[in-house]
Amino acid sequence: MKPYYLTTAIDYANGSPHLGHAYEKILADVISRTKRAMGQPTHFVTGLDEHGQKVQQGAENEGIDPQSRCDRIAEEFTNLLGELNISNDDYIRTTETRHKKVVSSLLQDLFDRGEIYQAEYSGFYSTRAEQFLQEKDKVNGEWPEIFGEVTEITEKNYFFKLGKYQQWLLQFLEENSDFILPQHRQSQVVEFLKEPLNDLCISRPKERLSWGIPLPFDQEYVTYVWFDALVNYVTAADYGKKSFSNLWPADLHVIGKDILAPPHAVYWPIMLKACNLQLPKQILAHGWWTSSGAKMSKSTGETVNPLELVNEYGTDIFRYFVMREMKVGQDAEFSLERFESRYRADLGNDLGNLVSRLLHMCTNYFEGIVPEASTIEEPEDILMKKWQDTKRLSLEFFTRFQFSQGLEEVSGFIRSINKYADERVPWKLAKSADLKDQQNLKTCLSTMVEALRLANVLLVAVMPEVHEKISERLAIPVSKNWQTDLDWDNRLEGKQLKEKIILFPRK
Ligand code: ME8
Ligand code: MG
Repeated sequence: MKPYYLTTAIDYANGSPHLGHAYEKILADVISRTKRAMGQPTHFVTGLDEHGQKVQQGAENEGIDPQSRCDRIAEEFTNLLGELNISNDDYIRTTETRHKKVVSSLLQDLFDRGEIYQAEYSGFYSTRAEQFLQEKDKVNGEWPEIFGEVTEITEKNYFFKLGKYQQWLLQFLEENSDFILPQHRQSQVVEFLKEPLNDLCISRPKERLSWGIPLPFDQEYVTYVWFDALVNYVTAADYGKKSFSNLWPADLHVIGKDILAPPHAVYWPIMLKACNLQLPKQILAHGWWTSSGAKMSKSTGETVNPLELVNEYGTDIFRYFVMREMKVGQDAEFSLERFESRYRADLGNDLGNLVSRLLHMCTNYFEGIVPEASTIEEPEDILMKKWQDTKRLSLEFFTRFQFSQGLEEVSGFIRSINKYADERVPWKLAKSADLKDQQNLKTCLSTMVEALRLANVLLVAVMPEVHEKISERLAIPVSKNWQTDLDWDNRLEGKQLKEKIILFPRK
């Protein structure tokens, strides 16, 4: 079976990772783990974008060579992937030989077929955005702050014939209305394409920028960083080798909304089309983590260091928070209060409490052996019905990458288990000598164990370590297959559970 090939943006090697980078990798990881649980093998790639002016300048400022600086930053980013428990299969760096080769060969191919030409160009150039600007980029007659310093320059450069594909792309988007998720983003791209599309300058003269991949047909120039970076997706799929068709076309590119149009939704599809390569099946554009309403970014400095939260609370808590708090596609404001409240309420009070009190009762009343559910009555029926709804809805949400909404369903189910316990009051039943009460006690604990087992299965992609800890207490292997593990079948009856644990200690 062709694996589900998914990628993230490759992060710029011009600063330390922050919450936005961490989020995107977790989102892609959760998608990857969900696909695998649903029975589809995945190939999951992330990486680092190492060329370009900002990287060169950063190294100059530090008085070191750009490669050493990239190596150090690569270590920071890959260390973070480890801390976040990201299950990527590959990590691609654009300074690797495998990548430079692919960029050169694509450029040469496009040049040979007349898709790239040389021309004199004068225009306004933004160093910060590393691109030429147009009049329409002005706001109220001025260059907006985001472009930094803008200067007028005249140069000979190489151009890629973007414009001639404009109609083709519009038609493609019309025929593939779910190419970009969420859907309203696709409409924005269509809007963007209503303006005339200029050809793309894909070269930078070496005297201005040396830190890049040389153009194979003119060594006086290096490749524009976006033309280099986007190609990572085919490099990582072994472009040029036989195995390429095992992975390409990609199933999903996960990126942030700031790099959708034009890079991913316009340049990239056209680059692929011009190279006679298939387009990725889907692009998922997530929103921004904000701080006091503004995008968290390296240039503003208002960032959250994910490692601090991971160190204080643990990897899975952080993963749960970002997946629960941000509705995929929308922005979310980070606040420590929200973080703490999710920790206390969803995790501590609801899930943590359930696990500890349930295991405690099983140990106390039945020496840890799961009793049989023999007397199914209304409260059990209600809980089982609730499970059917939870399973259906959460799977629907997960399939559409709506993890926050899916997790909300799972949380709701966990609260229902606690509510069920409060209704059945097993701790009172345990004190009664009445035969019916004793039977109900068995049914109650058995029902709760099964419900917890099921809820825990749905948590495996978001909180793999918590899932493993709970599975270990229930003396079952971690869930690898949702086809078989999501049925209410009381499979733990008669099994020996372990003693209670505190999963989420009070802070
Ligand atoms: O754009 N909230 O790199 P990058 C959410 N190298 N996501 C955020 C974010 C925030 N506050 N800030 C950044 C690049 N991101 C290019 C990509 S891909 C061929 C080349 C996301 O380090 C951003 O949207 O600036 C992007 O998807 C990723 O982090 C890397 O951003
Ligand atoms: Mg950025």
